[in-house]
Amino acid sequence: MSPKKLNTIAVMTSGGDAPGMNPCIRSVVRTGVANGLQVYGVEGGYEGLMHGHFHPIGARDVGGILQRGGTILQTARSDEFRTSSGQRRAIREMNSAGIDALVVIGGDGSLNGAMVLSQQGIPVVGIPASIDNDIFGTDMCIGVDTALNTIVDSIDKIRDTASSHSRAFLVETMGRASGYLAVLAGIISGAEMVLIPEVQNDVREVGLAIEEAYRRGKTHCIIVVAEGATPTAAELGKTIDELDLGFTTRVTILGHIQRGGKPSAYDRLLASRFGRKAVDFLLNGQYNVMTALDGREIVGVPLEEVVSKPKSLPMEYYDMARVLAQ
Ligand code: F6P
Repeated sequence: MSPKKLNTIAVMTSGGDAPGMNPCIRSVVRTGVANGLQVYGVEGGYEGLMHGHFHPIGARDVGGILQRGGTILQTARSDEFRTSSGQRRAIREMNSAGIDALVVIGGDGSLNGAMVLSQQGIPVVGIPASIDNDIFGTDMCIGVDTALNTIVDSIDKIRDTASSHSRAFLVETMGRASGYLAVLAGIISGAEMVLIPEVQNDVREVGLAIEEAYRRGKTHCIIVVAEGATPTAAELGKTIDELDLGFTTRVTILGHIQRGGKPSAYDRLLASRFGRKAVDFLLNGQYNVMTALDGREIVGVPLEEVVSKPKSLPMEYYDMARVLAQ
């Protein structure tokens, strides 16, 4: 059976923004237009979908956005869309605008929303975008590479001041419940220790690592702490500062700078590939999947699988971070 003919698709960004969302929007729009589709941009994620905030978006409207962080379509986290009345309202708005299918660019909550719509008969393709890299089924999400570059750049700077003052720094990275960003940042910035939510952390071990770095004659000690780790960087900072470990301690919470900035070359390419593939999937009738990076290939993974399975951290990276930190 040949796939249902689509005339109009919409694209939206949802949840936390991630660098690379703009190149992805551009790719969806231009691939859609090249295939004769009318493309609508939804403003403000699921909030915009429920309130009919759509506008036609053409190839020229997405000029000059490839290098911009954030999302030109705006984004939001919507509580109302989690309710069945919110979902009914979104579907009604889409139907009355004549939108046949939807591309959702976002993280786990957004992809869950996409799956809910797909269960109610809307052809949907999801695209994983989250600096956390915590989405099942894809090796990489849009935004991770840029965030890692920002973190590494920040830690390089922190090390300069840490070395000048002979200090230990606890640097908190984002990642929600995933230690991915922290572990990767630890490896590529040469941190002395990494603390992640996936592993039980011991304050005494942290103290010993700092003391050991001091005894060995290091001029600094950098400990990367994932935001979901226990104890948190702030809690550790208080405890450790009261101990006599050689170094004095400071805490830096990197926060939302990790979500901003120009998307890296890698993120621009990944976003462009995902966007193009998402439209190809829709045109070929391959609905209700997420575009996913599997090695070097972009494949489709069913949304139901994406939202029902946890993505686990490759523990060999954690082990590598420990070995290389000696
Ligand atoms: O999911 C991306 C992320 O930046 C997480 O790493 C972090 O926990 C969360 O979003 C912060 O959300 P908000 O911007 O709503 O404070």
